[in-house]
Amino acid sequence: MKIGILGAGGMADALGTQWIRAGHEVTVSGRDPERARARAESMNAQVGRPGARSGSWAEAAASGEVVMVGVREAGLDDVLAAAGPALRGKPIIDVTNGAAPDRYDVTRPLARRIADLTGGHVVKAFNLCHVDVWRMTPPVFGGRPLAVPLCGDDARALDLVRGLVRDLGCTPLDGGGLDRAVQLEATAAFMIGLWFGGADAQAILPPLASSGAHEPA
Ligand SMILES: NC(=O)c1ccc[n+]([C@@H]2O[C@H](COP(=O)([O-])OP(=O)(O)OC[C@H]3O[C@@H](n4cnc5c(N)ncnc54)[C@H](OP(=O)(O)O)[C@@H]3O)[C@@H](O)[C@H]2O)c1
Repeated sequence: MKIGILGAGGMADALGTQWIRAGHEVTVSGRDPERARARAESMNAQVGRPGARSGSWAEAAASGEVVMVGVREAGLDDVLAAAGPALRGKPIIDVTNGAAPDRYDVTRPLARRIADLTGGHVVKAFNLCHVDVWRMTPPVFGGRPLAVPLCGDDARALDLVRGLVRDLGCTPLDGGGLDRAVQLEATAAFMIGLWFGGADAQAILPPLASSGAHEPA
């Protein structure tokens, strides 16, 4: 599959390299064409064959059957405007988090903003873990493959992203519709606050067997 990536930073590198390894073709993009080109070359070097190239924001958006938004919040609106109309109706993976977790504003979810600005079928995913987790092959902790919650409304987009989650050796988890993406963003903000404070955030949740009496979904 052809994957366009808006971004040429850490998340573009980590996830894009995994997807090249799985046989996909990736186009990365950034503000500086030289830096984006260097990123593509470095991704190809990591995998040992040419699966990545670089292009403008608009070229990355147009090239992808699915497009990942992997830019900082500060640049989000400008980047989406530069990406242009190619994003309309396209599956979009939103990995973004708010710039300042302690000031995350639940009234302004990033995923909804991306959907409104692009007209694409947004799936929120991959925002809960640090970039280095996405470099692991595969991310497995305590013998359990990492589960990746997905929030989105479009069945085809969700299906594509589930496949891309499995390409990493992770397990896709249904997180509900795009309206629930705000909960993923708030969860990331909360967890990042705990991690920055040196706490083991994973320790705050009991296992399923101790999650209370309820009907399984
Ligand atoms: N790093 C993590 O652990 C992590 C984990 C989960 C989610 N996320 C989220 O994923 C997104 C990308 O994170 P990242 O770690 O890949 O960031 P990064 O390494 O700093 O890369 C940021 C990308 O955003 C682009 N960008 C466009 N406009 C920008 C602006 N005004 N200011 C800053 N950058 C701008 C940069 O362009 P240039 O290439 O031209 O610099 C770069 O390609 C962010 O929303 C972040 O919150 C990050």
